[in-house]
Amino acid sequence: MSKIILTGDRPTGKLHIGHYVGSLKQRVELQNSGLYDEIYIMLADAQALTDNADNPRKVRDNILEVALDYLACGIDPQKSVIFIQSQLPQLYELSFHYMNLVTVSRVQRNPTVKAEIAQKNFEQSIPVGFFAYPISQAADITAFEANIVPVGEDQKPMLEQTVEIVRKFNSVYGPTLVEPQILLASNTACLRLPGTDGKAKMSKSIGNCIYLSDCEKDVHDKVFDMYTDPGHLRATDPGKVEGNTVFTYLDAFAEDADFEKFNSPYANLDEMKAHYRKGGLGDVAVKKFLNAVMQELLGPIRARRQEYAQDLPFVIDLLKKGTEQARAKAANTLSKVRRAMCLDHFAPDGLGSHTGS
Ligand code: TRP
Repeated sequence: MSKIILTGDRPTGKLHIGHYVGSLKQRVELQNSGLYDEIYIMLADAQALTDNADNPRKVRDNILEVALDYLACGIDPQKSVIFIQSQLPQLYELSFHYMNLVTVSRVQRNPTVKAEIAQKNFEQSIPVGFFAYPISQAADITAFEANIVPVGEDQKPMLEQTVEIVRKFNSVYGPTLVEPQILLASNTACLRLPGTDGKAKMSKSIGNCIYLSDCEKDVHDKVFDMYTDPGHLRATDPGKVEGNTVFTYLDAFAEDADFEKFNSPYANLDEMKAHYRKGGLGDVAVKKFLNAVMQELLGPIRARRQEYAQDLPFVIDLLKKGTEQARAKAANTLSKVRRAMCLDHFAPDGLGSHTGS
């Protein structure tokens, strides 16, 4: 069986280092591994509209921002197909058919949907389209016959729901759809990178994100403003590493080689943590090191982003070509789905062929 990847992001803002470490970095590695037959990366603008219906400009403006973030991180349009979700009507049709296979109470139990409903204060006024987005996500995944879906941990419930839809579809209409598997980042610190204020998640509205497009000074200032251990008042005090955002970031980003590269007195992060715990290591020294690590990672990404940003017609053209290629793939799956559902009415064996009239 061919190995097919599908993944994507809602274009509601520029991508930040939480996206990078939770998913983008791994996508680039998967892409460059040469182990996959087809890779699709989707700008989920239609899904973005499910809770931004009144703000279509914002969604449109962020399509190019996110595409630039992808290219800057090393997504290579020669190897991965980048496309725009809304331009594939096949996805809407698949969603419509899958809706018959999912109960309202099942969607209500989806933990990600539940959390988002609470967070967005929808209360009794949940848009039906938003409520149904896990179903549309199943359409996205199955349209590409994807068996591997590399995403952040928050998408796990979406994948579970997709697997249920696939099994239900195949049992009702015969084997048609491919069952996907989630692929999470392997470093546990990467699964849920907190915001720079130590809050659970990076969020644009709270302003606790480091963006891939941030300039050097902004990265520096955000690192030096970071939340650490509130009990670690003097450098000589013993400090806590757990729940200390600077160390959580080092868990996610620092590699052993960085310690030598930036002339650290420690051989690795464990040694640095031990010193901090014991007392005698100040926050500023730890932040300096984290800043060096972050600047080295983000410098080349920022430079590549600026290069692509100077040639937007090239970027738009590659999105157009990617979208055409993706549309052909989705159309192929849709015709299998229609056939399985006895909706191919005008085929030679369609309407009238079994009635004997
Ligand atoms: N829900 C994803 C996000 O919020 C975007 C998305 C839409 C997606 N459809 C998908 C991700 C299918 C993976 C597979 O970023």
